[in-house]
Amino acid sequence: MTDTDPFAHVPHEPGAPKKDPIVTADNVHRHFGGLTAVEVDHFEVQRGAITALIGPNGAGKSTFFNLLTGFDKPQSGEWLFNGHSLKGVSPAAVARAGKVRTFQLTKALSRMTVIENMRLGASRQRGENFFAAFVPKLWAQREEEITAQAHVLLKRFKLYEKKDDYAGSLSGGQRKLLEMARALMSEPEMVMLDEPMAGVNPALTESLLDHIVELKNEGVTVLFVEHDMHMVRRISDWVVVMAEGRIIAEGPPSTVMQNEEVQAAYLGVHHDTDLSEEGPA
Ligand SMILES: Nc1ncnc2c1ncn2[C@@H]1O[C@H](COP(=O)(O)OP(=O)(O)O)[C@@H](O)[C@H]1O
Ligand SMILES: [Mg+2]
Repeated sequence: MTDTDPFAHVPHEPGAPKKDPIVTADNVHRHFGGLTAVEVDHFEVQRGAITALIGPNGAGKSTFFNLLTGFDKPQSGEWLFNGHSLKGVSPAAVARAGKVRTFQLTKALSRMTVIENMRLGASRQRGENFFAAFVPKLWAQREEEITAQAHVLLKRFKLYEKKDDYAGSLSGGQRKLLEMARALMSEPEMVMLDEPMAGVNPALTESLLDHIVELKNEGVTVLFVEHDMHMVRRISDWVVVMAEGRIIAEGPPSTVMQNEEVQAAYLGVHHDTDLSEEGPA
């Protein structure tokens, strides 16, 4: 580790304080009836790093993502993004603040073209800006900007040729690329990816990993949920482990799986995660 490693002095423990946190969360509780889905005492995300959020199925990872991005409301809790509280803030306003999450292509989005999907990801839609809504020339200008930006991203994600195809006609891997490209339309400071590699073939997995590392190199903070520990080890700077709604461990990807509590949490659940350091034979 070097002196410039932001994790050099971060303790390997749940809720560890970070050098320069972009997100902090406190006492976030989400119950569904009698079930405790999320019960996070303290959580920080280091700015400019790639953080992996892992944990067995049902650990509360997706619910925690939804809470942090305004798609779900907790019974209690506080969380800040760049020092500003995002509690009770709508998903659109969270995105405007610079934090976006990817979304799986729903049925409705599948019936739209690739370029239409991209437009939906843009931060300033027509009508969102009160002034522009009354000045057609400004609309037109903004529409052109959005199109140009979408074209750049579609080229980068090798989807440009598909721009007028229905999103529903894309392969599983191409959908994942579109989900990521769409999230980038709002020029976020932080992206949250929920299982970006799920159902993607090995060739596209490589390209997705490269895209994530590229985002980091551009200064974007990345928080992603992933099952495959090999992927986690390859790209993440820091790993946060959830189980039964709580954060049970944190540490660098090279050692976090050796934690006894982490091993116990995974063994208690049916899962397909390979815990070995070497990977599958
Ligand atoms: N809308 C919901 N209603 C009821 N229970 C839910 C809901 N969403 C998630 N849960 C439950 O909360 C727990 C955590 O789920 P989730 O956040 O999806 O876990 P993960 O993403 O880690 O697999 C699970 O037990 C799940 O069944
Ligand atoms: Mg999930």
